[in-house]
Amino acid sequence: MSRTVVKYRFFVSAALGMEEEAAAEIQEVWGELLDLDGRPHSTPLEEFEVEKGGITFSASLHLGLQLNFFLKTPHRILLRIKEFRCRDFPKLFSEMQKLNLKEYSDLSNWKLEVAASKSRLNHEGRIEDTMMKALKLKEPLAHEALAGEIYVRFFDDNCSVSLDTTGEHLHFRGGDLHKGDAPLRETLAAFCLRKMTAGMGQTEISKIQWYDPMVGSGTFLLEVVQLFKFNSKRSFAFQSWKKTPKVLQKSETWLKNYPQASKETYKIFGSDIDAKMIEVTKQNFLRQGLQEPRLEVHDILRSRPSFELDVKSPLWVVLNPPYGERIEAGFLPSELLSAITERLKPERVGVLFSRKQVQQLASKLKGYDLLAEHSISNGGLPCVFMIWTRQ
Ligand SMILES: C[S@@+](CC[C@H](N)C(=O)[O-])C[C@H]1O[C@@H](n2cnc3c(N)ncnc32)[C@H](O)[C@@H]1O
Repeated sequence: MSRTVVKYRFFVSAALGMEEEAAAEIQEVWGELLDLDGRPHSTPLEEFEVEKGGITFSASLHLGLQLNFFLKTPHRILLRIKEFRCRDFPKLFSEMQKLNLKEYSDLSNWKLEVAASKSRLNHEGRIEDTMMKALKLKEPLAHEALAGEIYVRFFDDNCSVSLDTTGEHLHFRGGDLHKGDAPLRETLAAFCLRKMTAGMGQTEISKIQWYDPMVGSGTFLLEVVQLFKFNSKRSFAFQSWKKTPKVLQKSETWLKNYPQASKETYKIFGSDIDAKMIEVTKQNFLRQGLQEPRLEVHDILRSRPSFELDVKSPLWVVLNPPYGERIEAGFLPSELLSAITERLKPERVGVLFSRKQVQQLASKLKGYDLLAEHSISNGGLPCVFMIWTRQ
């Protein structure tokens, strides 16, 4: 007798400009997901569509949920539980009454996130009130464990209701990490590294000497090391749902089913003018139980760092310098680039500059070709990740 597999609609949300990369990542890790018996699955990704702000696709529940363990560039993964056309409050009320949230949690303190645009129903407060009443929700209190979060979107008079499967934003990789004044979001760092290494595998990446001369709290280096690892250091909202298959609820036992990323050692180097940040990076690697980078206090504008680099391995430099907007820069972007390329002659350089800094750049970087530039927002500030390769 053939078994009917129930398909669910998922939405993976990603920052504007990062949707295509998040889509590529989903396709790459799809083959690593497992069926509930711990064996590789053979289901294709269905109804896969990339749109502004994210990706939608259909999949069985256990596969869609597992993506949380793997994805590095998106924000969060939502499970669509209802989509309907809606132009009045009585309809919203009656459709919401049909939802069965008890399948997911016995608690009724769900938090609502409502956004409405280009729709007849556009009063977000009233939408929220209607949903609270129809679903008999309890006001979430700060000290209580939440049932979870419900995302409600009205656009062009279409209403979609989704449950957040992720919990804390995906940029949170777990562990109690410390940050500097202008930390880089892990999701953005992973995006930049994926763009720099496009198509390369773990073994190739581990052969490169990675150097961040403005290492701050170490985000780029931490992401280099974790790019191919599933995340075992945090839990996700779906793991406390009643509807989630039992085997997926406990990470410790479930994660043992995935083949471990091979234990490559990485050649990672970091320096910063601020001794405090060197200590922060060191502690962050220790807290994550990761191989520590070679670190030193150093001003990249003044001299070459003292660590010995292996002339036989390629050197790649990646950094996000101060933009001179929120924190003082004290140098021109072209001075920084010359200091790096003339002293170290790296094979590849990736820099996340602010758009203003890019406008100050000379048109050509001597001895290098511009390989790619990607416009992205860094905490609301327009930025460009620029990648050069040595001629
Ligand atoms: C925007 S932060 C980098 C943030 C980092 N990517 C992270 O994830 O935390 C810029 C860093 O550059 C460092 N810095 C500024 N001028 C420097 C210089 N001349 N040489 C080396 N580091 C410098 C600052 O101390 C700061 O930690």
